[in-house]
Amino acid sequence: MSDLLGLFPPGSTVDEAGGLVIGGCRASDLAREYETPVLVVCEPALRARAREYATEFASRWPNSRVVFASKAFPCTAVQRVMVEEGLGLDVAGGGEIITALRAGADPALLVMHGNAKTDAEIELAVERGVGLVVVDNGDDVDRLEATVPAGRQQDVLVRIIPGVTADTHASVLTGHEGSKFGLAPAAAVELIKRIEHSPRLRMRGLHVHVGSQILEVGPFAEAVAPVAALGEFEIYDLGGGLGARYTYNDHAPSVAEYLDALVGAARSQLPAAAQLIIEPGRSMVASAATTVYRVVTVKRGLVTFVGVDGGMGDNLEVALYGQRFEAGMVDRMDASQGRPVTVVGRHCESGDVLIDGVQLPDPRVGDLLAVPVTGAYCFTMSNNYNGNRRIPVVFAGDGDSRLVVRRETWDDLLARDVG
Ligand SMILES: Cc1ncc(COP(=O)(O)O)c(C=O)c1O
Repeated sequence: MSDLLGLFPPGSTVDEAGGLVIGGCRASDLAREYETPVLVVCEPALRARAREYATEFASRWPNSRVVFASKAFPCTAVQRVMVEEGLGLDVAGGGEIITALRAGADPALLVMHGNAKTDAEIELAVERGVGLVVVDNGDDVDRLEATVPAGRQQDVLVRIIPGVTADTHASVLTGHEGSKFGLAPAAAVELIKRIEHSPRLRMRGLHVHVGSQILEVGPFAEAVAPVAALGEFEIYDLGGGLGARYTYNDHAPSVAEYLDALVGAARSQLPAAAQLIIEPGRSMVASAATTVYRVVTVKRGLVTFVGVDGGMGDNLEVALYGQRFEAGMVDRMDASQGRPVTVVGRHCESGDVLIDGVQLPDPRVGDLLAVPVTGAYCFTMSNNYNGNRRIPVVFAGDGDSRLVVRRETWDDLLARDVG
């Protein structure tokens, strides 16, 4: 049980009755109040992680900035926490600019990404004063030059393909040769020359991002050399990508271990006066959240299927990347290990499996099931498959809770359907 509890947000406990408590709130009370499925974010854990990143980075490289990769959890409440903790925001596309500004972000602290930014998104970024636009290709430069008004200059970074392959799922690998993101060093050199001669653009530095859910520090350090080889700049944005601990068997490097490797490589290869930026997403938010489901059916046969009231409508990490999760029974966290079951969702696909083989103590219809480490990309990729109403997000902390994103309604589902 203690191992299971270790996957829940720091500070989570089990009460005398064996019930899960997150942010000082009984998970069963949260399920009753907000209904299920519900995504519960432990706000103190989220803030603590943001502070850990900022403090550890600044202590190693004072001229540094942590920029939260909004894509990992793009709701204003999460973005606002990051803003309040003094972080900048990485925004990929127009929608994340809009939510970041609503969250109170200083546009000058936004870093905009996208491998296929549209005219409208570039216009939005320029008009709202986004601090750094990360140029991915020559078309970005064409668009920026056509958009930035005379007499102004837009600060840009150029995204480089470092040619580093990390051990992660192919879909979230981005730094390998052949990646759709960024430019190979030779092509980058040409584009940098063009930007340096542009009256509308200011070449500030380089960007690199190796991929996501990377559980070793080597690839982050390796990506520094190809960037350093392109010359001296004012800013180096070294991306995100640190992995999270999802399962008992995962060993995720700590923020300190990650930064020791990254800043170590920077110290030996990058100009001492440069500003360093990092863009953690997954490792910032993953472990702060838990999804609570209600068991709808238990079907015993060759395999015991525990069907819950959610699935790939609220968690696509399993179907897309084969991500493994663990789970516990909300009211029986202290029960000794039960039999292996397969937790499945309610969607019309055999691939809608939340956890293939997990020991649960005699799950029954009506029980509550808690799946920890659902803070990263689950909210992001939630969807309306099978008419699913996207699930609410609740912040819990110090014994209180509040709704920050409401559950969709049937009316919401019909609202865009104007046919
Ligand atoms: C450019 C960029 N920066 C940062 C991130 C955040 O990565 P992660 O959530 O793995 O930390 C991503 C996501 O893949 C990204 O594409």
